[in-house]
Parts: sequence; C-alpha cells; structure tokens
Amino acid sequence: LFRSPCFPSLVHSSMKILHISAECYPVAKAGGLGDVVGALPKYLCALGMSSAVILPKYALRWVKEHRFIEDYHGTIRLHDRHLPFTIEREIDDTLGFPLFVANIPDLFERDGIYASPEGYGYDDDVSRWLGFQQAVLQWVAQFWEKPKILHCHDHHTGLIPFMVKYCPEYRALKDLPTILTIHNGAYTGAFSWRHIDKMPLFEAHARNLLDWADTIHPLASAIRCAWRVNTVSPGYLDELKAPDSHLNWLLNNEWHKSSGILNGIDAQVWNPATDPLIAHRFDGDINRFKAANKAAICQRFRLDPELPLVTFIGRLVSEKGADLLPGVIERALENNAKMAFLILGTGDPALKRAFYALRDRFFWHFDASIEYNESLAHQLYAGSDFLIMPSRIEPCGLNQLYAFRYGTIPIVRSVGGLRDTVRDWSEENPRGIRFDHFSTDDALHALYRASLLYHDEQTLTGFRKRIMDLNFSWEKSAEAYIALYKGVSSPL
Ligand code: GLC
Repeated sequence: LFRSPCFPSLVHSSMKILHISAECYPVAKAGGLGDVVGALPKYLCALGMSSAVILPKYALRWVKEHRFIEDYHGTIRLHDRHLPFTIEREIDDTLGFPLFVANIPDLFERDGIYASPEGYGYDDDVSRWLGFQQAVLQWVAQFWEKPKILHCHDHHTGLIPFMVKYCPEYRALKDLPTILTIHNGAYTGAFSWRHIDKMPLFEAHARNLLDWADTIHPLASAIRCAWRVNTVSPGYLDELKAPDSHLNWLLNNEWHKSSGILNGIDAQVWNPATDPLIAHRFDGDINRFKAANKAAICQRFRLDPELPLVTFIGRLVSEKGADLLPGVIERALENNAKMAFLILGTGDPALKRAFYALRDRFFWHFDASIEYNESLAHQLYAGSDFLIMPSRIEPCGLNQLYAFRYGTIPIVRSVGGLRDTVRDWSEENPRGIRFDHFSTDDALHALYRASLLYHDEQTLTGFRKRIMDLNFSWEKSAEAYIALYKGVSSPL
C-alpha cells in the first residue's frame, strides 16, 4: 500500500457521480449487480459524466493482485466498537474509472462477498453494511470538492440517503442528491431495532424513516429518503407496485420519483468477435461460429453434439427458478426428448445433488458444472443453442442479453426484465421463447417449441441473425441515467 502524494482535492474533483456498491466486476462479483457497477461508470465517463466506484475491500483475488494507494484514514463506531479503516484507490485505474475500496479489516477482510466460498453466510451483516456506509460518508464528507450525486445500489447502501439527511456527523453532505437503484427488491437488508446503537447519531424526529414492518429496513428507508429511485427494468417497477409485492405501498407512494431504466451490457467484454474466453470467435458466419463453439463444449462435457443444447447459467437459487429444472429435465429425458442440457452455477446444495443424480442417469444428455466460472460462462453463451431462464423474479436479467449477443436463443419465463426484452416466437421480430407459469408443464411446452425451432433450419438462422444484431449496449441506458442525474442536480 502506498501513501497518496497528491492533494486530495485533485483526486476527488473529477468525480461527479459516486457509485456505492457491494459488488463491481471484475473486482468482486456475485451476480448482475457486479456487472452493472463494473460497466455503467465506464460508459458514463465516455459520455462525459465522470464517475467513480467505491466498494468494500474484500480479500479476493483481484484485490490481492492490484495495487492500492491510501486516500483517507479514519475510525468508525459501531456501538462500543471503534474500527479503524482506510479508503484506498486502485493505482493503475485498471477499470477505466477511479476505483476506491473501503478497507475495514474487521468487517471485510474475508474471502467472500456475502458468504464464504463454502457457502456459509456471514453472521455480522448488520455491522458490515452499517460500517461500510459510515466509512464512505465520513470519507466523502471531508472532500474539498464533493461529488454531485451519491448513487446507491441495493440495500447494502440503502441507509445512505437517510444518513446524509439526518445524521449531524455528515452535515456537510445534507444537500447532496442521492439515487437508489433497486437491482433486487427481494433482498431488503432489514434488521432488528436492537441494533440501533450501531447507527450513527441521527435527528430523533426522523426515526420513522428507518422503520418498516417493525424493523430497520434499509431498502424501504432508501425508497423514502432518496431523491430518485429506479428499478433495472420498467416491467420490474410495475411488478413491485402490484398488490402482491411487499414494497407496493411504498413505491406507489413514491411514484413521482420512481422510474425503470433497463440495464445494458458491456459490449466490450461481451463481444463474440474479440472474446478471448471462447474457442472460436465470430467472423461473420453465424452457423459456423455456433457449431464450432458447441463442438468445444460437447467435447469438454459428456454431451451429444447432434442434439440441441439447452443451458442454464446462474445462481442455483429459487429466485432464478433453478429448482424447477431437475423435474423439467428429468421429465423431458424420461420421455426421450432429443435434447441435451447443461448447468453452470452454484448455490443450493440440494439442487447440486439433484443435478449430479441426473448426470449419472442421462449420459450424453445431461451434464453440470457446479461452480461459479466466468470464463466457462462465455464459452457456454457462444456454444449453446438455447439459454433457459425460468426465473420466479427477474428485475432485469443480463444473461438473456449476453445470449442474444452470442446468437443463443433465450427460453424465459415472462417476468420483469425478461418480459421487457424477450419477444416470443409468436410475435413479430421474435427474440426467443416465453412461458407464463412457473410450472413444469409450461417449461416443458417451451422446450418442445424450442426443439421445433431448432429443426427448422431457416427459422433458426434467421433468429440467430436477428438477435445478434440487437444492441443492448450500455450507451442508451447510460443516457437515461444521465437524464435522471440532470433531474436532481444542475448544472452537472
Ligand atoms: C440482480 C437481478 C438481475 C439484474 C441484476 C443487475 O442480480 O436479479 O435481474 O439484472 O441485478 O441489475
């Protein structure tokens, strides 16, 4: 670690938007949140909206392999614990935008983001996220030149809009606009009021703005206190406002400051013509590109290359609908479906066992790689015929957008961002296959339609061409964020 030689204001003055997040690819990624926070700032910077990111300093590989320089040091208080911390900046600006990490060893010097590599969640999450938010605000409060906007992502940073408004310690930030992006409303960060002593002091009259359902509720508090709130697709906002959503009352109440902005993808990282992680790059011939990459997968896994290949990539959790798959695949293969299936992802140990059992039964038709493996994921997008996403909830979904780019046809449940981005085969200019109900029968029917599509060569090629030509790059969505920023802070 190096000590900063330069006057702090020089480092901070080129930072209009500060993104505060638990994840940022490639530093730390557990899911789509990491992808978004790793890409959006880059595209914002390219459009002239200088942006930086701060996340906790985890003991992860990327962090260990890069050099950091100290920018600030201080102490935070969590009830009766006083924890020293430093804020450090990555020296080489590897990501194309300034990257800062909050080094709070007691809370984050661990080899996982939310859980250990063996899958055990950390039991001090309340302290971890409260500590992170306090460290960030203490650091920003002493800037000579403040950022124009604090952009908070998900519940881990959800108490920041409240803290800047109501904690005397951060009075210097009182008028700073805050934005909350909800990547996933299913995780709220709610915790018991018995942890109240870990909060920094706040104005007593504001207490209600922390409370929701008798808990301290970071997500609800952010929805109320942030200047603007957005979800990562317009469809997901509608779902969160619907009567069966736990956030419906709040979001309907705050409708005037809420919007949906569809995520983009990092078209530099996800480029089939240059991707170093795939066996064969795209040179203009779609069918050859698909066939060569599929052959590479089928060689590595025990799968028959003659069959249409349906892949699932993602966390094995109920939100992503992974638990529907063992039953669906078993029924399809018991009925001699001429298809091959491949699973890549980690999560629920029971699902892992179910997938291993299928592997033993359906040689050449089924295989699974139970791991998080970013480079293998690239190869699977390139070489699969279909990508299945049976999500129960999908705030945006990026995997269907990666699949488009690599000519892989998505089979998705009609929910949230999947409904917003995937047009069904029965519609004009289709982009994939959709099914409505979270049921084995509906998913099986979608697979049946996929096999029909696969065997109609002309339609298949037309489909592949159309989806590869789509442009879901961040440029458009970054413009939408800039419009959002301009609505709360002018001039920018
Ligand atoms: C979360 C959501 C996913 C979204 C991603 C990025 O992981 O589950 O749908 O695409 O965040 O916003």
